[in-house]
Amino acid sequence: MNYQVVVLAAGQGRRMGAGENKVLLRLDGCPVIIHTLRVFENDPSCSGIVLVTQEDEQDQFRMLVEDYHITKVRAFADGGKERQESVYLGLSVLTMASDAIVLIHDGARPFITRKHIAKVTEAAAEHGAALLAVPVKDTIKKAAGFRVEKTLERRSLWAAQTPQAFRLSVIREAHRESIEAHFMGTDDVSLVERMGLPVRIVEGSYRNIKLTTPEDLVIAQLFMEKGGMTNEN
Ligand code: CTP
Ligand code: MG
Repeated sequence: MNYQVVVLAAGQGRRMGAGENKVLLRLDGCPVIIHTLRVFENDPSCSGIVLVTQEDEQDQFRMLVEDYHITKVRAFADGGKERQESVYLGLSVLTMASDAIVLIHDGARPFITRKHIAKVTEAAAEHGAALLAVPVKDTIKKAAGFRVEKTLERRSLWAAQTPQAFRLSVIREAHRESIEAHFMGTDDVSLVERMGLPVRIVEGSYRNIKLTTPEDLVIAQLFMEKGGMTNEN
């Protein structure tokens, strides 16, 4: 099943504390964003990439895309202040049929595999919206400040990842309604959830980490060295 993908690279990487956008940091000698883009570049089902960057970094990303021969980037979009705005701006430059499938993916998740992309794409085609997620390993406490209120039932908890996949008409309508309601979600499917529409979970991989804090870089470097991702791609 063919799809297009909006890849997000317009964050600042504050929690990484590297003093620059974390997707530009090098892993195995090449920028994180290139590792991510290569997965889509090499996936025959991917028919186009929209890359969302901050306006003042766009030239830098354009050069990387050229230098590393990423040919599927059809458009660049300027990012917004919040991730959700960046997604909205990325979606608005997409040209595709309203029932076609669009994926939204964090540039900071370079370990995504073609196998999982295919699964989440199929699920979105069937259900309208789908996400990759993994069962939560930790016991999660709900607290008010530092006072524990309750322990959540782990068996029903999933940690959301990207890509999240949609029929284009579904995610466009979800953004329209969220803007009207001033709703900000922390992921993309939450905009669809609030409309009461179905969202399907597809079990992903614990390897599909998002590079968020410095220790994630150490783990990512290990994944790269072990080459564990290649047999899944
Ligand atoms: N992102 C984006 N536009 C924003 C914020 C985030 O495109 N306004 C992107 C990031 O580049 C990243 C992905 O969304 O690939 C996931 O966000 P996150 O992990 O929060 O990255 P940052 O916002 O860069 O990091 P931090 O929150 O620590 O500053
Ligand atoms: Mg952020």
